[in-house]
Amino acid sequence: MSDSNDTPRTRKPLGLKRSVDAGEVKQTFSHGRTNKVAVEVKRRRKLTKPGEATAPEPQPAPAPAPAPAPAPAPEPKKAPARKAPASNETPQERVARLQREAEEDRLRQAEEARKREEEEARQAAEEEKRRAEVNRKSEAEAEVEAETSPAAEAKPAPEAEAGETEAPAPAADDATPAPRRFTPVARPEPKRPEPKKRDDKKPGRAEARGPDRGDKRRGGKLSVKTALNDDEGARARSLAALKRAREKERRLHGGGSNKPREKQVRDVIVPEAITVQELANRMAEKGADLVKALFNMGMMVTVNQTIDQDTAELLVEEFGHNIERVSESDVDIDSSTDTDPEETLKPRPPVVTIMGHVDHGKTSLLDALRGTDVVKGEAGGITQHIGAYQITTKDKKKITFLDTPGHEAFTQMRARGANVTDIVILVVAGDDAIMPQTIEAINHTKAAGVPMIVAITKSDKPEFNAKRVRERLLEHEVIVEEMSGDVQDVEVSSKTGAGLDDLIEKIELQAELLELKANPDRDAEATVIEAQLDKGRGPVATVLVTRGTLRRGDTFVVGTESGRVRALVDDQGKQVKEAGPAFPVEVLGLGGVPQAGDQLTVVENEQRAREVAQYRQEKATEQRTALAPTNFDTMFNNLQSDVVEFPVVVKADVQGSAEAIVSALHNLSNDDIKVRVLNSGVGAITESDVTLAAASGAPIIGFNVRPNPKARELVARNKTRMMYYDVIYHLTDEIGKEMAGVLGPLKIENVIGRAQVKEVFKSGKKDKAAGLLVEEGVIRKGLHARLTRDDVIVSATTISSLRRFKDDVDEVRAGLECGVVLADTNDIKPGDQLEVYEVEERERVL
Ligand code: GTP
Ligand code: MG
Repeated sequence: MSDSNDTPRTRKPLGLKRSVDAGEVKQTFSHGRTNKVAVEVKRRRKLTKPGEATAPEPQPAPAPAPAPAPAPAPEPKKAPARKAPASNETPQERVARLQREAEEDRLRQAEEARKREEEEARQAAEEEKRRAEVNRKSEAEAEVEAETSPAAEAKPAPEAEAGETEAPAPAADDATPAPRRFTPVARPEPKRPEPKKRDDKKPGRAEARGPDRGDKRRGGKLSVKTALNDDEGARARSLAALKRAREKERRLHGGGSNKPREKQVRDVIVPEAITVQELANRMAEKGADLVKALFNMGMMVTVNQTIDQDTAELLVEEFGHNIERVSESDVDIDSSTDTDPEETLKPRPPVVTIMGHVDHGKTSLLDALRGTDVVKGEAGGITQHIGAYQITTKDKKKITFLDTPGHEAFTQMRARGANVTDIVILVVAGDDAIMPQTIEAINHTKAAGVPMIVAITKSDKPEFNAKRVRERLLEHEVIVEEMSGDVQDVEVSSKTGAGLDDLIEKIELQAELLELKANPDRDAEATVIEAQLDKGRGPVATVLVTRGTLRRGDTFVVGTESGRVRALVDDQGKQVKEAGPAFPVEVLGLGGVPQAGDQLTVVENEQRAREVAQYRQEKATEQRTALAPTNFDTMFNNLQSDVVEFPVVVKADVQGSAEAIVSALHNLSNDDIKVRVLNSGVGAITESDVTLAAASGAPIIGFNVRPNPKARELVARNKTRMMYYDVIYHLTDEIGKEMAGVLGPLKIENVIGRAQVKEVFKSGKKDKAAGLLVEEGVIRKGLHARLTRDDVIVSATTISSLRRFKDDVDEVRAGLECGVVLADTNDIKPGDQLEVYEVEERERVL
């Protein structure tokens, strides 16, 4: 028939058709149980394709093809269709006919293909069955073998042939060594069976086991192979049996040989504190063994408890490993040990810090040197944070200046200024004297061990008297050249510019003597001079590079923060690409606001930066919590103390100001009232600040900052008190008054009389009256009185009635006797002393 022509064509779609077919298989189990299961047969294209392909084909083709499928529908149509070409048909009819024919062919082919697949599936099932039989036998043998002598492996080998076409076999072989590679590190046990297994397996065991592995890989799916496995429970047994066999093998072989092999001596890295479990992991021992060992040492600990380095060392030695002690601080960066070789050092500009009493003309002097007018823009006419500037002298040399605030509140800033500088210029106004902050500046300078140049300012003023200044400086062991000392001094006027060149010259001379050098060709290190949270730019730190060159894109850690240099801005507000030694720059790209005085260190990568920052954060938290009251004594002291607390939240524009405000507020505290700073920080007042303040009814102090819109809403809702300042002394004055108001007026006791209790008698039904002899002053009715017995206060009360010879009187003078009734007390004895006093209320000043 025409079918024979079609067959070769139908072969093509074969590979693309379904490769899985469904069928039903009867399973027979032991004890006569049977089961019918639906199975899927996966056809193997590889096997059928090459040459045999033609062999199975003829079978299905002649037999079922003509009868069922094409017969019902297409056959009647087919006959006329075939005849049609000869007759005269219209082109439309012709197209329709051709389409019909094509459709018929397609259906026929599909039907044939399906049949062929069925046939193939049957064949495949038979083959699988045969193979499964072989496998079962080999497994059974393997089991017997394992139980009797694990060495005899030869038998299953020949049968392995059956599995050789099977893909799972090599896969299984690969699968076993894989976990082996990892296990030795963590758990020593699995190691034991494996080396041996490898040896054992070589001949052919793995292959024999191969098909079984293949099964497992197919997961829970029931394949023909397993379904046709009609032998009694072999499938279920083989896994368990295999495990048992392995276990036995392990026991038999493992015994003597594995212990020495397993005992690896390790170098165990032990930090200052480590949990038992972690130590166990590092030693690759069992946690329970460590606990046992510790128990033997007399320590009852669990695996989760932390032990110290010394205990850890005992354990490590006990288990025969080597300890490698590391300190946690190894994480941190210690730049002090890393010194630059002499040949890498290059001259750098000097860093000069200007210090002195408030309003002595520091900023004006710097303005005059730089040709700017910073003073004019300053709130309250005072400097309130460190400014860093660089000037270029006439001979093209650079000098870096740091301007410090002179107000007393900024002690820490001055100390910082003195610590990062090479030279200090002590500014003393010629029309004024040596003032407290002048002395403080001298002390900071001496403590920092840096040379000093004295600048006596305001030389244009008529009341200028440099001689007096020089003499007064002697009192503080600052001996200037004119007084035959070695401290350079210069008279200057910022107004007229007199003496400025002289000052520069002296700075240069001093700098030359110091031979200032730094290595610019290394990763940068810098000191944070000031830090702030800028609304647009985020956290910004003004840093002074101490060595190396800071570049855009550098990754760094600064204090407890890490970051990457996004931009560098110089003192003129211009962006720069890099900043070398002694160059002051603003750094953008920090993760948070650091503390002024923090060290900035460029590190190799972000991971390192984060690691160090995290370590430092943890340390900082530890310190904070360590400062918190930890014992009951201090806790109760705090609870019981009748010191009034004045809670505040402080927000300032720059970190140094916040610090200065907090310390100024603490200075306002006394025995009666204490400022409690709930939080202090830099940047705008936020919602969390308001929430915090509202919780304690505290006012928020905003220094050069205002609330953001969301916080403003919250402020309105909570009616939080806002106190805004831009000058620190306004702030301290007002808060001082406020605190005084909280305490109420000052109460002052004035003792006005003393008397001795001579006798005690009854007065009325319950009360007692005391017969007194007034020894000093007067006693008046209604006054406060303190009764003391042997100088111990018995009661504090008031005089409720005062009598003399049965008459009520208002006042009894010294030398006279009288009778008194004391309010709320009857504990009176002859010989007691009575002290009578008035309480005067005065306005309180803090
Ligand atoms: P703080 O930063 O607050 O410590 O003050 P400061 O030391 O920076 O003083 P500042 O430069 O702000 O000057 C204080 C006042 O002194 C200003 O009013 C200046 O105009 C004035 N002043 C400063 N230097 C001179 C000077 O050389 N001659 C005269 N006549 N006045 C000066
Ligand atoms: Mg100033």
